Amino acid sequence: MDLAGRVALVTGAAKPRAIGNLVALGLAREGADLVVADLYEEGFPALAEAVGAMGRRSLGLRVDVLDAQAVEAMVEQAIAEFGHIDILVNAVGGSWSIRPEDIRDGTPPDRPVAAATCSDAEWHQIIGVNLHATFYVCRAVARHMMAARRGRIVNFSSMAGRRGGQPGSVISSGPYAVAKAGVIGLTKQLALELAPYGITVNAVAPGIIESWRGERALASVSADARERIRAAIPMGRVGAPEEVANMVVALCSGELQYVTGAVVDINGGMWSA
Ligand SMILES: NC(=O)c1ccc[n+]([C@@H]2O[C@H](COP(=O)([O-])OP(=O)(O)OC[C@H]3O[C@@H](n4cnc5c(N)ncnc54)[C@H](O)[C@@H]3O)[C@@H](O)[C@H]2O)c1
Repeated sequence: MDLAGRVALVTGAAKPRAIGNLVALGLAREGADLVVADLYEEGFPALAEAVGAMGRRSLGLRVDVLDAQAVEAMVEQAIAEFGHIDILVNAVGGSWSIRPEDIRDGTPPDRPVAAATCSDAEWHQIIGVNLHATFYVCRAVARHMMAARRGRIVNFSSMAGRRGGQPGSVISSGPYAVAKAGVIGLTKQLALELAPYGITVNAVAPGIIESWRGERALASVSADARERIRAAIPMGRVGAPEEVANMVVALCSGELQYVTGAVVDINGGMWSA
């Protein structure tokens, strides 16, 4: 897969072992230059070094993707620097550690957040970062891709967006499941609107993945609860972030240009459409 000369914008790639981090490294390995948007700016130097060692250029931008104006400015800065954006991966997401004030706090909440009982603030923040932000970045980038008449977009849904989140669990959340179902709707709508421009729009729906977030979520529950989680996965293990990143990189390649509007489940057999 040759992505030489392509420019990829990946949101949510700065934390080590975040799925977006592995996506960014995978795209660079295939030859793409990178723009990385994240609130966790401490992660930029290590990523820039790894990408530079592969002979690729990178630009790290500190952006809260829930801020539509900041997203517009980020995309304009990326275009000014690189001239074009060929690939967009929207990997930011989650239901905790998603605000500037707690981006470094790797602790899930001490109580479950349910769609039936959550506060207005919880609802707006979680729906915002997972769904609205994905829309803001897609909209800002689509304009440039439509003018160029080519592009690849991959959004992040979740198994929770397919079937709902487990009620009562602190590592899932009701509003999060709703937002991730919305990401599927957004992906399918954009796929229809952008197909005439040669732009593909797909989503991945990971199950339980040992990313930066996943590791902390699993560490926050009892050993018994961890065992129950593993036992519920037909493959008997949680997924590695690379196993999601490999699919995302493939969806960004020139080889899969007839695949659009698809949602790829990556969950060790826990759920299938
Ligand atoms: N880990 C899992 O088990 C799992 C399962 C299903 C879906 N997902 C989805 O996969 C995607 C990646 O998840 P992950 O586990 O790698 O998460 P993560 O928390 O490990 O990484 C998320 C990245 O996004 C950044 N970020 C968070 N909020 C931000 C904001 N408002 N603005 C800019 N950057 C922000 C973080 O700093 C981090 O680098 C998310 O959309 C998540 O919902 C994850």
